[in-house]
Amino acid sequence: MTNSKRIVLSSDHAAIDLRQAVARHIAVQGWDVVDIGPTTTESTHYPKHGQAAAERVASGECSLGIILCGTGQGIMMAANKVKGIRCGVCSDTFSARMIRQHNDANMLSLGARVVGEGLALDIVDAFLTAEFEGGRHATRVDMIEG
Ligand code: RB5
Repeated sequence: MTNSKRIVLSSDHAAIDLRQAVARHIAVQGWDVVDIGPTTTESTHYPKHGQAAAERVASGECSLGIILCGTGQGIMMAANKVKGIRCGVCSDTFSARMIRQHNDANMLSLGARVVGEGLALDIVDAFLTAEFEGGRHATRVDMIEG
């Protein structure tokens, strides 16, 4: 069963500082943060971190996930390869809200070389406070899942 307030975070080396800022920001909001690293800035490979986080969500261990790399793009592509994952890269709060409301996104991806910390935390808040609207959007999300 999915833990509704448990969220997984992961990144590559390009986004360690922003990932840790996100972790602090949402922990004080009551989220049970599962930060699966990495913890050092040694160069690493975003696909394995995106996949590892996505598997925590797909399994139901975590209800949502936030992943980060330099652009947010590569790690998003890796996460979306895991069945059941709907992850979008957001650089604005409108998109972050809409991927929850219309696309029932269960993961958010951020680019640490694209957005500053202040905007990133606002994007995170927009994503975490929005709710899926269902209805016609559920029909479309079902079509994505196949
Ligand atoms: C790492 O240099 C960079 O390629 C990675 O963080 C990400 O931006 C890939 O999509």
